Amino acid sequence: MDIVSINEVGPRDGLQNIKNILSVDERLKLIRSLEEAGIKLIEIGSFVSHKAVPAMSDTDELISQLGNIENYSVLIPNEKGLDKAKNNGVKEICTVLCVTDSMNKKNINQTVKETLRDLKKIFLETKDSGIRSKCYVSVAFYCPYEGKVDSCYVEDVIGLLLDYKADEIVIADTIGAANPREVKKLLSSIINNYKDINMSCHFHDTRALGLANVYASLDAGIKKFDSCIGGLGGCPFAPNSSGNLATEDLVSMLEMMNITTGVNLDKLISSRELASEFTHMSLKGRMI
Ligand code: HMG
Ligand code: MG
Repeated sequence: MDIVSINEVGPRDGLQNIKNILSVDERLKLIRSLEEAGIKLIEIGSFVSHKAVPAMSDTDELISQLGNIENYSVLIPNEKGLDKAKNNGVKEICTVLCVTDSMNKKNINQTVKETLRDLKKIFLETKDSGIRSKCYVSVAFYCPYEGKVDSCYVEDVIGLLLDYKADEIVIADTIGAANPREVKKLLSSIINNYKDINMSCHFHDTRALGLANVYASLDAGIKKFDSCIGGLGGCPFAPNSSGNLATEDLVSMLEMMNITTGVNLDKLISSRELASEFTHMSLKGRMI
């Protein structure tokens, strides 16, 4: 039986850049509703500067209300974020490295070299603390400032992250500019060069290529995808980064292909309604 894991990033990527900031109670209700639909893995928020991303303030309060946080991850940009994650009992952290200096500077005010230096320490520390570590390799195909990113360079960066013992690499098309051919080519080459890699994908759907890119990734052997309820999302520091691939569209396509996700589509549509009510937005997943 074909099985694909879905990591819902709505409560983090989906909510980090919206006008109507959700209360902790609303964030909690949305997470519970997604779980009710059968979603097992959820990125629930981030520990970042509240000045940079006000919508992600109070992630500590959210965690205390969630109780058992076994299946949740939290995004952290630096050591300070890791300390907060540890103090709040987080079991999985998501770090982020935008592979171009321009984008990395905009996002976390560091060059790529500086972030790699810090990630080396962060992954050592997570290993010692029994915390699972993921690393987003952002703008892996195109950068909004520097254009097309060289795939050999991306693979070299991934090699370093693996040397530093990141547990999972998440290839991210931050501005939704990649096409299925280049997705399959890069992913196949990474899998060929790094045989034991644990890799997933994170597609933004700016040009409606999210599902096509998932299909190309499946062909390359990927079994885990990020997505976002209602197609919410986008990095506040990347111009033209619109929403993520909608979870309901992803589940719908996979289930049509007889690939098991464990997610109930009807219940997922209820989660989208809830997200729409809380965000005051009409959401754009195509699945009805
Ligand atoms: P900075 O100004 O260089 O850092 O910002 P700083 O060390 O000078 O700190 C500035 C202030 O932030 C200080 O507070 C720090 O204490 C505080 P102040 O003294 O001004 O009151 N601070 C923190 N607070 C909470 N948690 C922390 C933390 N670190 C420092 N971890 C910094 C650097 C990284 C903090 C800032 O640039 C930042 O927070 N950026 C947010 C980045 C972000 O959240 N981006 C969106 C997520 S990434 C994304 O969406 C892409 C992804 O979806 C994949 C894809 O699609 O490609 C993952
Ligand atoms: Mg994203």
